[in-house]
Amino acid sequence: MTLALYVHWPYCISKCPYCDFNSHVGDTTDQDKWRKAYQRELEHYAALLPTRTVTSIFFGGGTPSLMEARTVESVVQNISRLWRVDADVEITLEANPSSVEAGKFSDFRKEGVNRLSLGVQSLDTEALKFLGRAHNAEEARRAIHIAANTFPRFSFDLIYARQNQTVEMWRAELQEALMLAGDHLSLYQLTIEPHTQFDTRTRRGEILTASDDHAVTMFETTQEIMDAAGLPAYEISNHARPGQESRHNLTYWHYEDYIGIGPGAHGRYHDGAARHATENHRAPDIWLQQTGIEGHGLKRSDKIEADTARREAIMMGLRLTQGIDKDKWREKFITTLSDFLPADRLTRLIQENYVTENETTLRATRAGLQRLNAVLGYLE
Ligand SMILES: C[S@@+](CC[C@H](N)C(=O)[O-])C[C@H]1O[C@@H](n2cnc3c(N)ncnc32)[C@H](O)[C@@H]1O
Ligand code: SF4
Repeated sequence: MTLALYVHWPYCISKCPYCDFNSHVGDTTDQDKWRKAYQRELEHYAALLPTRTVTSIFFGGGTPSLMEARTVESVVQNISRLWRVDADVEITLEANPSSVEAGKFSDFRKEGVNRLSLGVQSLDTEALKFLGRAHNAEEARRAIHIAANTFPRFSFDLIYARQNQTVEMWRAELQEALMLAGDHLSLYQLTIEPHTQFDTRTRRGEILTASDDHAVTMFETTQEIMDAAGLPAYEISNHARPGQESRHNLTYWHYEDYIGIGPGAHGRYHDGAARHATENHRAPDIWLQQTGIEGHGLKRSDKIEADTARREAIMMGLRLTQGIDKDKWREKFITTLSDFLPADRLTRLIQENYVTENETTLRATRAGLQRLNAVLGYLE
């Protein structure tokens, strides 16, 4: 059986005003303790799931490009020592485009990273200032070039539907992005997350995102441009040339097993007896301390009931443009999708063109993908 590994690095140079990820501004000079803690947590899971084949490793953050290459090396080596690693393993690292970090790309490549995911966010310096980013547009372009010349696969992220952004501005930015891109792009609509600086400003009356109607137009424009360029959406915000999807993220959306290492990381896996949901302590110091004492930084580890797993798999699977494969779902969860979902509600969603179904698949339409939370809420 396969296994994907997520490794969380929780530090950033500064905190972006829109971000609610588990990221902290902190001292990263002593990485020796991090290497030891990651090793201990990996050993904990290797004892629980010894016979797996690792198909993906994902260094996410925070800003994992602030890790020393030695830290990445240590994690990759420990994984290879503890598990069988697939010959075609995908090893992704999230990076920020500052020049210091771009200078480390070739070191990461040497340690086995074969896919880079770059947090570009915008190709416009004014927009980057608005987003509170530490890099400018020139640095972003330079980092993209270095990534393209260093890694066999790379992707970058952009955030759109920002304040004062016209459809024409977004069209031009996206066209430039496509000229610079490889085979994968992540395109996120700016969302105001609770407890962020943008949340506070919004509550004070500032308008930081595009209006709902305008955001819908921008989403449609995005799909048209990306379809025409041969990188259609395979998930709400992720676009790739067919075959170049992020295998790691597909693990989540296909509801396959993964474990989470590091502060705040989550995991979902079946150990043969039961399915488990895990969540680590978010605070880096607490995670480090507990991992030192207990060998893992778990805040909670719960057995998941079959119906909860079924619901989670639907939430994940409907994010994919190809939707949920009904036969695979039945194999995994014994019951059929149509027996599990409330028939009257599903019929209504199909009539209103938010969801569509044929003999093999159930999927959200484009309109459904845009309002997926509401669609899922209605199916609960
Ligand atoms: C885990 S984050 C971090 C990657 C990296 N630290 C960075 O910021 O460049 C992954 C991506 O989520 C997106 N993101 C984070 N917060 C967002 C928000 N409030 N609205 C839209 N996109 C967001 C950004 O594009 C970001 O690159
Ligand atoms: S660099 Fe990325 S993870 Fe860090 S605060 Fe900014 S958006 Fe969040």
